[in-house]
Amino acid sequence: MSSVCFLAGRTAALIPAAGSGTRLGRGPKAFVEVAGQSLLARSVAALVPWVDEVLVALPEGFPLPPGLPAQAILGGATRQESVWRLLHATTADVVLVHDAARPFLPGAVVTALLEAVSETGAATAALPVADTLVRGERGRWADLVPREDLWAVQTPQGFRRALLLRAHAAARAEGFGATDDAGLIARLGLPVRLVPGDARLFKVTTPGDLALAQAVAAVWDATCDAP
Ligand code: C5P
Repeated sequence: MSSVCFLAGRTAALIPAAGSGTRLGRGPKAFVEVAGQSLLARSVAALVPWVDEVLVALPEGFPLPPGLPAQAILGGATRQESVWRLLHATTADVVLVHDAARPFLPGAVVTALLEAVSETGAATAALPVADTLVRGERGRWADLVPREDLWAVQTPQGFRRALLLRAHAAARAEGFGATDDAGLIARLGLPVRLVPGDARLFKVTTPGDLALAQAVAAVWDATCDAP
């Protein structure tokens, strides 16, 4: 583990990787390769230097590929369920939850996140929105949405594990579903720090994203991990 001294206690990386990859159309997305390495392998490799253990949630029938420095569990029917299971598979004090589908994770984002978690207990990588935003109605421009103060939320997201467990338990009890974990903390009225993310942390979702990932990989793999 690298010398990140912000936090006392153990840190685990939790990687939900149990999605079916329907929109990509290439089987379970985590196993799709970009320049010879799966999205999962890239995400695991990016987190290993910063944590004490890496746990991944995988789809049924897809074992952990040999040689990956991680432990695997069976994922759930939703991302939220996969993270819930991962949270119960570790005793770490701090967890970093990261989508396998975001393979290019700069180390600087991880260290900034760990520092923020030590201060607030919950933090997420996020990018200020750069595009003009509008609300559409049946394909027509309806209203301009002011983009000031708007952020696009990424992963990783970091938490004190006890806090995230509490937020997940509350969401389950109320039948609330979310596409990320920081949202579950925020809905309890608790603070979530926004830490500058990175454009390269985009989520591979569509075939177009995969083409972009191939292009990024050529540069990323040549420079290892750009700061
Ligand atoms: O589908 P989406 O790209 O939003 O999924 C985000 C992450 O959650 C992916 O890494 C995916 O593998 C994971 N996931 C999961 N269990 C599910 C659905 C998605 O671990 N049931």
